[in-house]
Amino acid sequence: MPDAMALLHAQCSSCQNCPLGKTRTNLVFGVGSPTAKILFVGEGPGEQEDLQGEPFVGKSGQLLDKYLSLIDLDRSGSKIYIANIVKCRPPHNRDPQLEESEACMPWLRKQVRILRPRIIVCLGRIAAQRLMDPDFRVTREHGQFREKGGIWFMGTFHPAALLRNAAQKKDALADFQALRDKMAQLNLLDGG
Ligand code: URA
Repeated sequence: MPDAMALLHAQCSSCQNCPLGKTRTNLVFGVGSPTAKILFVGEGPGEQEDLQGEPFVGKSGQLLDKYLSLIDLDRSGSKIYIANIVKCRPPHNRDPQLEESEACMPWLRKQVRILRPRIIVCLGRIAAQRLMDPDFRVTREHGQFREKGGIWFMGTFHPAALLRNAAQKKDALADFQALRDKMAQLNLLDGG
């Protein structure tokens, strides 16, 4: 439903449902294919994302792109879509507050309804706790897929965490390889 996503983006552009709407430079709605079956969800825009209006374009985004390329994915292809729990930058890159993510979640839910993804990859604790399990612990549960309502969810390390702790990079790579295996299992490797 490509048009539905463009329409939703247009509606979201004027959102002032929480105080982050007042301090944003740009709304960071999401990027990728409106027919993607794999959705990556981060936490919220950082400085570069706020300036450019696109998710994961700063240093952690470069690392995300590298992991994607290792399993033959890229953000301009037809297979993936990238979004965040909150669409506006929290000041000083703090964690989004509960009221902010509550206010923003309806937009993400609508994106999910349009995409109907088969797989949702949660990048980091904030997304995994919000979408998978409030007690999710990345170090303990990363890379494990669970099915909920016809969607396979997996949580992995946030790329910014990997930049701080390089020792976790090989676990993150294994998670991306597990994603590739899950894509094969679900017949998502063919075409585009
Ligand atoms: N970190 C996130 O969680 N999302 C972005 O878009 C950028 C950095």
